[in-house]
Amino acid sequence: RRVLVLNGPNLGRLGSREPEKYGSTTFAELVGVCEKAGADLGLEVEVRQTDDEAELVGWLHEAADGRIPVVLNPAAFTHYSYSLRDAIAQRTAPLIEIHLTNPATREEFRHTSVVAGVATGTIAGFGLDSYRLALRALTNLDS
Ligand code: DQA
Repeated sequence: RRVLVLNGPNLGRLGSREPEKYGSTTFAELVGVCEKAGADLGLEVEVRQTDDEAELVGWLHEAADGRIPVVLNPAAFTHYSYSLRDAIAQRTAPLIEIHLTNPATREEFRHTSVVAGVATGTIAGFGLDSYRLALRALTNLDS
């Protein structure tokens, strides 16, 4: 089963980006972790990252058209992107919203997710394990 793991803005800078919050694992290492976790679960995982809202919306259209399950870390788009929300609302397979940190414990503006209401579920606060847990959850869901 093919799965897309999509990542929003600034996540390509993992490893050097505020390591006290996001850890020292690089984005390249995150890709490896997701591919390995996916393979262990019998999933063919493709990991992508963009800083561009339009590109992310396009990938969500691709997932909707292909009935492909998605693990999505929308990063800062989480908190304000209605175009991302509207793209997710078109989904034809499960989509799990994930975050490395727990936004509920952070600044007030991070307490709102405009995408949570159209996701299958949300996993937040477990660092890299948020990705592993989401892939695991997908295997237990019927698309
Ligand atoms: C994040 C949390 C967001 O608030 C933030 O804008 C990010 C990363 C996380 O994975 O913890 O870029 O989605």
